[in-house]
Amino acid sequence: MRLTDTGDLWWKTAVVYCLDIETFMDFNDDGVGDFEGLAHRIDYLAELGVTCLWLMPFYPTPGRDDGYDIIDFYGVDSRLGHHGDLVEVLRTAKDRGMRVIADLVVNHTSDQHPWFKASRSSKDNPFRDFYVWRDEIPPNAPTNVFPDKEDGVWQLDEKTGQYYLHNFYRHQPDLNLANPKVRDEIAKVIGYWMQLGFSGFRVDAVPFLKQDGDPGVDPHELLRSLRKYLTRRAGDSVLLGEVNLPFEEQYAFFGGEAADELTMQFDFVGMQKLYLSLARQDARPLADSLRERPVLAQESQWANFVRNHDELTLDKLSEAERMEVFEAFAPDEGMRVFDRGIRRRLPTMLAGDPRHVRMVYSILFSLPGTPVIFYGEEIGMGENLEQAGRLAVRTPMQWNAAANGGFSRARSRRLVAPVTPDGFGPAHVNAADQRSDPDSLLSFFEKLIRRYRASVEIGWGELTIIDAGVDCVLVHAVQGQEGRMIAVHNFSSDPQEIEFALPDGMGPNAELVELLRDGGVVADEKGRVSIALDAFDHRWLRVHDGDDKRLS
Ligand code: NOJ
Repeated sequence: MRLTDTGDLWWKTAVVYCLDIETFMDFNDDGVGDFEGLAHRIDYLAELGVTCLWLMPFYPTPGRDDGYDIIDFYGVDSRLGHHGDLVEVLRTAKDRGMRVIADLVVNHTSDQHPWFKASRSSKDNPFRDFYVWRDEIPPNAPTNVFPDKEDGVWQLDEKTGQYYLHNFYRHQPDLNLANPKVRDEIAKVIGYWMQLGFSGFRVDAVPFLKQDGDPGVDPHELLRSLRKYLTRRAGDSVLLGEVNLPFEEQYAFFGGEAADELTMQFDFVGMQKLYLSLARQDARPLADSLRERPVLAQESQWANFVRNHDELTLDKLSEAERMEVFEAFAPDEGMRVFDRGIRRRLPTMLAGDPRHVRMVYSILFSLPGTPVIFYGEEIGMGENLEQAGRLAVRTPMQWNAAANGGFSRARSRRLVAPVTPDGFGPAHVNAADQRSDPDSLLSFFEKLIRRYRASVEIGWGELTIIDAGVDCVLVHAVQGQEGRMIAVHNFSSDPQEIEFALPDGMGPNAELVELLRDGGVVADEKGRVSIALDAFDHRWLRVHDGDDKRLS
């Protein structure tokens, strides 16, 4: 890869920022965030260094799954504005160098979607086959994703006496993806939003697209055809998949070597191992999962994340590992959800320790792949545990210390969600204060993002895990044709002295320039490096040799 080619596969060096319009910025002061509010915060995001916005569902919805229950795939929720307001967001983002992707939720609709209303009206309705109906509950039916609310995935519909499939809530019937008419509709929806200016989609709930049984769906074939169609319309558009599956299955969802299915996928396994490493103060679980990651084709990319809008799922850990993480970061039952996850944000889990929080984000931006940030992470927002379930982490963005955190001037009882109270509330955690403080978390994020963007080897390079002889320290190298970098992270609350050998090719007497602080380190004549680390320390070191002409 040449530096000048990296923009061709822009997603490999992107900074993705996920937000929900309704909780981001309320421009008309009715208590609900809106497109106009977002348009007025695009400059904030550009200043932070974001290059790709991921807009969570903004479609018309009864709001029973925070917008993931859609009644019109072509519409815009009128509380947020109208299509014209959305286009202005797209246009302003483009001007500030940002692409925008949308959530594509086509595994299911709301039960209020006109298709479902028609489908359930009678067995011979033309829309009947838009959904999955059975006379009886098939044997070995899987468990529901929301076990606290649903005890199965088949719901009897009294009127026609048949059962419909719903992998999520019963008010979210699964579309029948085996039906060519449904597939045509999905393609049309994709084409519509692309035409308006989106650069791709975050694809919801990929593992559920398969719909076991007769007739069954080959999700790979479905994704291949969608990707083909998408890239025919716009060659550099992307599909970022939500695929919480083991690596082997994720590799297949990239399309393997052919790279003709999902462009990017979240690394759910790595994320869970990161928390296990944090809980144990031991870098090995994360290091092992990085070693186990399949090597991807050039076009494909991992999306790394620390938190998202859902529960911090720990479903890929063993029962004992999950309990370790629960005990470390969610000691109270009320901090947990679905028996598998945590409904908190990172800073509260780490007791607000800035060294620890920064170390985690330093890992996020230094791991091979593309970082995805959930709004508010850049200022260290906490959660509101008084909110039900996953809503705890979906509180309004905290812009300043004014009423409602500057999110809205509506009366606080009219807000779409209450702001986070207490120590992590807007009086203590807000964007305005942090913008003018060079030592703030926000300033740290800005620096990390600048360094990440100027280190294309992170997105493109090859990974080597280096043995530093100390279990609590992760040392990893990323090397590309255009650059080589070493990152060092101390998971321990104790200082450490480490010594390690640079990987082959980085050479004896190499000069290592600090990227996040002043100074540097020089390797000895055998290519060995010694570093003293503080508690929860983090270091990025660019390996300089005569050939590297970048400014450091
Ligand atoms: C995954 C989304 O991330 C989650 O928030 C939603 O509830 C389910 N899909 C159902 O759409």
